[in-house]
Amino acid sequence: MFKKLAESIRRKPIIGWGIFATVMVFVFVLGLLAASITERRAEIATLYNNKKVEITGINAKNEEWGLNYPREYDTWKKTKDMDFRSKHLGNMPEDALKNRPEMVVLWAGYAFSRDYSAPRGHMYTIEDMTHTLRTGTPDHDHKDMQPATCWTCKSPDVPRMMHEVGIENFYKAAWSNFGSEIVNPLGCADCHDPVTMNLTITRPALIEAFERQGKDIAQATPQEMRSLVCAQCHVEYYFKGEGKYLTFPWDGGMTVEAMEDYYDNIEYADWVHALSKTPMLKAQHPDYELFLLGPHAQRGLSCSDCHMPYMAEGGIKYSNHQVMSPLKNISSTCQTCHRDSEDNLRNYVYQYQDKALEIRNRVEAELTKAHIMAKAAWDNGADDSKMQASLKLIRQAQWRWDFAVASHGASFHAPVETQRILAHGLDRTMQAQLELQKVLFSLGITDIEMPDISTKEKAQKYIGLDMEKLQNEKDKWIQTTLPEWLEKAKSEGNLALN
Ligand code: HEC
Ligand code: HEC
Ligand code: HEC
Ligand code: HEC
Repeated sequence: MFKKLAESIRRKPIIGWGIFATVMVFVFVLGLLAASITERRAEIATLYNNKKVEITGINAKNEEWGLNYPREYDTWKKTKDMDFRSKHLGNMPEDALKNRPEMVVLWAGYAFSRDYSAPRGHMYTIEDMTHTLRTGTPDHDHKDMQPATCWTCKSPDVPRMMHEVGIENFYKAAWSNFGSEIVNPLGCADCHDPVTMNLTITRPALIEAFERQGKDIAQATPQEMRSLVCAQCHVEYYFKGEGKYLTFPWDGGMTVEAMEDYYDNIEYADWVHALSKTPMLKAQHPDYELFLLGPHAQRGLSCSDCHMPYMAEGGIKYSNHQVMSPLKNISSTCQTCHRDSEDNLRNYVYQYQDKALEIRNRVEAELTKAHIMAKAAWDNGADDSKMQASLKLIRQAQWRWDFAVASHGASFHAPVETQRILAHGLDRTMQAQLELQKVLFSLGITDIEMPDISTKEKAQKYIGLDMEKLQNEKDKWIQTTLPEWLEKAKSEGNLALN
């Protein structure tokens, strides 16, 4: 073959030149590729050394961090997007009480019955907190509804203020005290050390909960940290004592029963139910605790594996900071590990969620009835001692319902555990109804009329809320007090200037 080639080249030298030129082009392209790889390597290496601005201390201004880390900043900013809806969740605003008016009755006497929306992106933490009816309208004429503790999960200004005024003083202040201080949405300084960019825990409640369990959070592995940064906020918590000290009830364990024991032992109640007079517990959002009991955590996955997947841009690998439903982008989340089709993977999630919803709907309907039956018993003269057994069951039932439901991802994160909790919730609910039935019979009542609570408005009217007044006051407050807070924040340099 080579002899033939040599013969051809001798006869027609142009062939030789042709081969020579092809090889040269090939070598040139190879060279370009190599150069670009080295350049990218150099870019990665210098990413940390060539910071455009020096960030020290607790800097809550995300825009300034963004100058150094444009990829993370740009994806973080996308948590503002509202463009995705899965079957049950997504990043769009959604009025949960409108969809499920029974929840209004379940929370009667508590601020959640006024207003409750499904969560959306991290960019909305401040806006959603100032706009919800649950924070009221604190100004010259109105007192605060909430302590400053409520700010804790909303902003990198929180660690900044805690550093300034002290942790205890922070919690014990009124919510409105920090209106012009806590203004930047959840961001870089919530999860990162500014100098090393290592993941870091900025919320004392998580560090303290570990300490009380005899564990040192500083010993967590890098993979554990990829969940623990989220566990600063996506957990069950309560406000302890007069000082409203943010506390995680994990001392005896992190299951629904262990935390219930914790609260029972200190005789804690978040509020007393307006209809049934039950001393209630409000579950917050035990995403982390429930996730730990699911198949993915047990295989060593972290929250970030699904909610902050790696992306590649040229040779640079970075984490997608657009924290949201992993179903928006199945190819860069689930499919990094699973070979199933996108449709199959999406359907696994929907199946788990639909099955949990079947039980959830039953609990909500029957538990609402139980509260109304208890009200009827009180109205007809039942005494305390007769009601104790029923109220205890209502408390237990609603704690289980809320625990499973308020952690919005739980039916996928830990499908079996979530079903178990909902099943016990339904069991306690039906037991409560049986007990109440006995009390009602003993009072000579055989039939109680169920109110029409088929819409949010009707349900809110039934529990005695004057929504028009509350909404008008809030609208006015948003137009008067809120702009004052923002003006002050700007003039004091708490917000970036762009
Ligand atoms: C400082 C507290 C805090 C930290 C840390 C935090 N979150 Fe959140 N997260 C929130 C709050 C508050 C919301 C609701 C925001 C709203 O609705 O305005 C939220 C919303 C979400 C949502 C719903 C987004 C949507 O589009 O509907 C997801 C998913 C989520 N967080 C996951 C995570 C994950 C995963 C981590 C860790 C990598 C994490 N969060 C860290 C406080 C936090
Ligand atoms: C809710 C927590 C959270 C917030 C808020 C957050 N990050 Fe991250 N960040 C992470 C996690 C988790 C990783 C992955 C770390 C790992 O795998 O070790 C990460 C990784 C990084 C990295 C390392 C390279 C990479 O992309 O994996 C940089 C740089 C970074 N983040 C910058 C930022 C900037 C800038 C902001 C603010 C705009 C920010 N982060 C906000 C959790 C967060
Ligand atoms: C194996 C992948 C996976 C892991 C790991 C994971 N999640 Fe999820 N998460 C999901 C899926 C899937 C959903 C449901 C999304 C939907 O229905 O659109 C979800 C939903 C959520 C939601 C509700 C989002 C909404 O729009 O209301 C939150 C909050 C959340 N996860 C937080 C976390 C936290 C915190 C961790 C770690 C403790 C975690 N997730 C770990 C896959 C995961
Ligand atoms: C980082 C790897 C990884 C990612 C990302 C991941 N998974 Fe998994 N998943 C696993 C592993 C490992 C198991 C356990 C497999 C086994 O035991 O055979 C598992 C198990 C499952 C199971 C079976 C659960 C059970 O009860 O045993 C389902 C369903 C599933 N994953 C769906 C998903 C979906 C949907 C996503 C995206 C939202 C996802 N996974 C993302 C690694 C991953």
